[in-house]
Amino acid sequence: MSFSFYVLSDTHLYSETLGTRGDAYARDNQKSQKLLAGSRSVIHDVFDRLLADGSIDTVLISGDLVNNGEMSSHQEMLAELTRLQTGGKKVYALTATHDYDGAHRYEGNEKIPTNGAKRTDLWEMYFPFGPDKALSVHRESHSYTAQLAPGYRLLALNDDKDGSGHSGFSPDCLAWILEEIRKGKQDRQFLIAMTHHPMISPSVFYSLIGKNDLMHGREAFIQAFLSAGLPFIFTGHTHMQDIARSHRFYDISTPSLVGYPGTWRVCTADRQSNTIAVQTQQVPPEALQAMEQQFFGMIRDVVKYAAADNDRFAEMGRAFSLRPEFSRKHKHFITFCGKILRLMRVDEIVVAVVRRLYGGNPRRDYRRTLHFKV
Ligand SMILES: [Fe+2]
Ligand SMILES: [Fe+2]
Repeated sequence: MSFSFYVLSDTHLYSETLGTRGDAYARDNQKSQKLLAGSRSVIHDVFDRLLADGSIDTVLISGDLVNNGEMSSHQEMLAELTRLQTGGKKVYALTATHDYDGAHRYEGNEKIPTNGAKRTDLWEMYFPFGPDKALSVHRESHSYTAQLAPGYRLLALNDDKDGSGHSGFSPDCLAWILEEIRKGKQDRQFLIAMTHHPMISPSVFYSLIGKNDLMHGREAFIQAFLSAGLPFIFTGHTHMQDIARSHRFYDISTPSLVGYPGTWRVCTADRQSNTIAVQTQQVPPEALQAMEQQFFGMIRDVVKYAAADNDRFAEMGRAFSLRPEFSRKHKHFITFCGKILRLMRVDEIVVAVVRRLYGGNPRRDYRRTLHFKV
């Protein structure tokens, strides 16, 4: 029997009780590639759509559940997940680095620290959404395995920290993962793994400017996973739509549910043929339009600031993994490029390139069912 499931990522719910007006909110919203206000409504509508589909009862979510760890955002996300689970879905979630620390709210011109979750709070908070169904847990990393269906086993691998402050797996966590893969193979299970940070870059562009966001030590992990018999993993974090391959290992990246291109995955694993089919669904046109306005408005502003205001450009560059130090170090080059782009009026070309980078290849990633030999 084959097994079908949904994969969502980076739901980044932002509670509107934290503020949706004023200069401070506007400044952060201007550099956000995803929706802040309106994010819950998108999540609610997508969950309605999943609930209406009686043929699939399993939903995986690969981290960054809320905007920035705000307790009010967590409470709303927990309510949405409870609704999904009460409606008959089994939810298996990972938390990630946006789910703790750094919580703020907005009031007029001020961005004010607010009640937020600590990393140590998250296991208990999200216990009903995966850990409660665990076969085995690696408590320190917040990782777990679970039996999704007869013959299909989940490895939910939390890569928040590898012990040295980077994303990745500590030696102890890696030993646990390899033992779980071994047990899975011994039990003749089809293994479905997910983590948050990318193990393969979704594009050359990301390798250049977002390389610090790629999982630390990924090459060694890929080799270890392949040797143990795990040939693919679902990831999030980049907010990009992509399926990348390195050696014989696949990284299937799902974008943010609340930002362009507003997609999620519908997968069917088949342990008989040893394949997994990956299809993509997208938010309805009105929600997609709001996401496009948010994302491409931000890109046009980035081009504008590249030409005229390096400080603001450095601040905005964080939205797409560009480090402020990089922006400042290459100030003259960035200003030059920004001016050329403005002079040539090529904002639309930049938008088209970014659309392709983040949205993936619509022919390959949206309409075609991909099969992976595993
Ligand atoms: Fe994210
Ligand atoms: Fe992330």
